[in-house]
Amino acid sequence: MYRNLDMGKKQLKFNSRTIHGGQAPDAAYGAVMPPIYQTSTYAQSTPGGHKGYEYSRSANPTRTALESSLASIENGNYGLAFGSGLAAIDAVIKLLSPGDEVISTSDLYGGSYRIFKTIFEKYGIVFHFVGMQDTVEIAKHISVKTKLIWVETPTNPMMNIIDIKSVSQLARKHKILLAVDNTFATPYLQLPLDLGADIVMHSATKYLGGHSDVVLGALVVRDKELAEQLYFIQNASGAVCGPMDSFLVLRGIKTLHVRMQRHCENARAIAEFLANHPKIENVFWPGFPDHPNHEVAKRQMKDFGGMISFVPKGGHYQEAIKIVEKLQLFTLAESLGGVESLAGHPASMTHASIPKEVREKSGVVDALIRLSVGIEDKEDLIEDLRQAIE
Ligand SMILES: Cc1ncc(COP(=O)(O)O)c(C=O)c1O
Repeated sequence: MYRNLDMGKKQLKFNSRTIHGGQAPDAAYGAVMPPIYQTSTYAQSTPGGHKGYEYSRSANPTRTALESSLASIENGNYGLAFGSGLAAIDAVIKLLSPGDEVISTSDLYGGSYRIFKTIFEKYGIVFHFVGMQDTVEIAKHISVKTKLIWVETPTNPMMNIIDIKSVSQLARKHKILLAVDNTFATPYLQLPLDLGADIVMHSATKYLGGHSDVVLGALVVRDKELAEQLYFIQNASGAVCGPMDSFLVLRGIKTLHVRMQRHCENARAIAEFLANHPKIENVFWPGFPDHPNHEVAKRQMKDFGGMISFVPKGGHYQEAIKIVEKLQLFTLAESLGGVESLAGHPASMTHASIPKEVREKSGVVDALIRLSVGIEDKEDLIEDLRQAIE
């Protein structure tokens, strides 16, 4: 049974919904923030006589508050929160059966590639990894066995943009489910369900949580039957998040809109700095008018996000390593989307689980550096990059 709350807040605009969507003061004492219901079980007056909650794998009031907020900010009807982004992905693929086929973005988070290839292929699910900027390429792989299209946009780490609306039209025509990993963009920048997707997925570890202090995953859908199927998997497989983590992400969501605004503003300044620097070969950021998918990004996104990848001149691995080691304000670390700026080396970190020849086909070369631009003063961030590069 669902516990998502509507609270009649659907008519609010996005920024108001990040704060109020699906939320109401706690029934017991009027606490404005939902209490952290750190409990596994709930007293019953008679078997089945409970107040809506029986056992915290099935539902927990703090998780409900988060799931309601997630549904609200993604313009969905049902939110489901999991122990990590990968646990949320795991639940989506468990909708499928042996013999079913999935068409996935080729340039995607290494962990998504790993769970598809090394876990689910063993159970007879077939994955096709396709460059999705052109829907013709997707269409070539569709058969009666295709049950799911998996889109990540902007892609991680190459910042390609996939036209969700065009892919959704294709998916609908063939009655294929469309899932979109909205981790990089967040609902502040793009709303996949409005563009025709069936499932939105998040590593809420990133921008939704926003403070690098929690690992959590999420799914949002509109269709009741699909929600019931995913809820069944969530409860039956049990990869739920705890109440403390739910609370942290809920708190993060309340400032998502102001943080995203600053992430985008800082990333723009840094992308321009890098593009004009003589020691930089290539900068991947969808806000550049000459980015191959700039027009789609402009149409589909409110701004261009806080993620940038770049390759130093010469394209040497050693040069990239020297730069990331010299950074001082940017921390060399896995993950992204927090208030602090992070730098990563995808080939040896986030994308190390993808074989070299596969990742290089999508441009993830050994010299690529990925930045998650935080919300510090942009002048300080640029100065840090300048000293590391020069
Ligand atoms: C785009 C994307 N999707 C999914 C995930 C997996 O999420 P988690 O680390 O919360 O399991 C990540 C993690 O980096 C990611 O960047």
